[in-house]
Amino acid sequence: MASSASGRGGGFPSPAAVAAFVVLAAAVVQARGSSAAPCVPRVFSFGDSLADTGNFPFLYGNDSREPALRPPYGETFFRRATGRFSDGRLIVDFIADTMGLPFLRPYLSGRTAEDFASGANFAVGGAMALGPDFFRGRGVPMGDRMHLGIQMKWFRDLLDLLCPGNRTDCMGMINQSLFLVGEIGGNDYNIPLLSRVPFEKIRTFTPSVVNKISSTITELIGLGAKTLLVPGNLPIGCVPNYLMIFKSDKKEDYEPETGCLRWMNEFSEYHNRLLVDELEKLRKLHSGVSIIYADYYEAAMEIYRSPKQFGIEHPLEACCGGGGPYGVSMIARCGYGEYKVCDEPQKYGSWDGFHPSEAAYKGIAIGLLRGTYTQPSIATTISSCPQLIELGSSIEYKNCSTVLHMKIVAQVIGWLFTLVVLLVCC
Ligand SMILES: *[C@@H]1O[C@H](CO)[C@@H](O)[C@H](O)[C@H]1NC(C)=O
Ligand SMILES: *[C@@H]1O[C@H](CO)[C@@H](O)[C@H](O)[C@H]1NC(C)=O
Ligand SMILES: *[C@@H]1O[C@H](CO)[C@@H](O)[C@H](O)[C@H]1NC(C)=O
Ligand SMILES: *[C@@H]1O[C@H](CO)[C@@H](O)[C@H](O)[C@H]1NC(C)=O
Repeated sequence: MASSASGRGGGFPSPAAVAAFVVLAAAVVQARGSSAAPCVPRVFSFGDSLADTGNFPFLYGNDSREPALRPPYGETFFRRATGRFSDGRLIVDFIADTMGLPFLRPYLSGRTAEDFASGANFAVGGAMALGPDFFRGRGVPMGDRMHLGIQMKWFRDLLDLLCPGNRTDCMGMINQSLFLVGEIGGNDYNIPLLSRVPFEKIRTFTPSVVNKISSTITELIGLGAKTLLVPGNLPIGCVPNYLMIFKSDKKEDYEPETGCLRWMNEFSEYHNRLLVDELEKLRKLHSGVSIIYADYYEAAMEIYRSPKQFGIEHPLEACCGGGGPYGVSMIARCGYGEYKVCDEPQKYGSWDGFHPSEAAYKGIAIGLLRGTYTQPSIATTISSCPQLIELGSSIEYKNCSTVLHMKIVAQVIGWLFTLVVLLVCC
């Protein structure tokens, strides 16, 4: 081998070529390392069933009557029930994936600090923003439900696990993490709505719900949080179960463009308006902290206005449920009683009549991550995140691995070109 190399006139490999090759190899390894690094080291998430990635069974037991713990829940992506209240991935899953992180671990499923190396999810199906005392004081009995206060306690417990002895040691970790504060508060309205508490009374809860979200954000900032994403409420007038329960003969009760219930959507917008105003106040109080509003409402409305763009054919229908006009009925629900499941869940806006399908979640997540429905844009807030920039400029959603793959290929082509130039010149 040595003789054949020295047999060439120019002496191959020449020192310059070897040097170039070493530089190239090192660069490729480094590129993999740096490109594959997640955009944020950790994500912490608070919320309800829209974000629960599996806390529910740990809290209420595997044998709970909750259908979400059994198939057909989870059939689309995971091919098993994971405790997610949908057929597949949730918004929080698409966010974690795009950030280059694994799916968030449900807080109650972990034990050790290593279990939470990429963050934790405190969201629980059925959780409310406000505690039961608030509702008891207003003559609306709730039982002992999970709420934001308990999720914050879990977060403080986790800090004691991650930074035993001194919580301030966690500051450097917290100030680099992304916090998803919600969606939360939807159940503060859903549960009274379903037990027929008068709507005018429910409307008076909103300032307290928004205050609770605000005080949670303030506490997180006090613990060192620097980047928070705070979602508003979804357009609840487009929820199949509400379309069935609050069915109206009056044409003017419906939005002509979408067929959603106007008064319910106006209520979501009212909640969101108060939340947006509150976030603006918080931004003024905490300069140096990025508080991003995630406009779930408008991101979802894009799906209801132009479902075909998202490959959805039945935006206001549940894939899994009782099979009435909106895919739901009073006598059966998904996973319970004589229910039906559609063949193509990706063509439905709702999975079970209350929760969006994976297809709808994906559409909402793309809208958020591309920056259209985050104020300020998440891509400009979380700098040095190539996946987000890529997403912002692409038509189709590309998941993290695809984008990284493209980046690495592009860079290797660049270095090969440099190597050829070096070999030719030297
Ligand atoms: C529920 O059951 C599954 C499968 O049998 C198991 O892997 C999981 O650990 C159980 N979860 C709880 C909270 O007991
Ligand atoms: C925690 O650490 C900080 C600085 O690292 C120090 O100022 C503070 O006194 C410590 N607190 C406790 C309770 O040890
Ligand atoms: C994060 O916290 C660490 C440790 O307290 C500090 O050194 C660093 O400057 C902080 N970074 C930011 C961006 O606040
Ligand atoms: C990402 O895309 C690749 C290739 O398109 C696919 O194999 C992979 O399952 C996707 N990952 C997720 C989490 O969607």
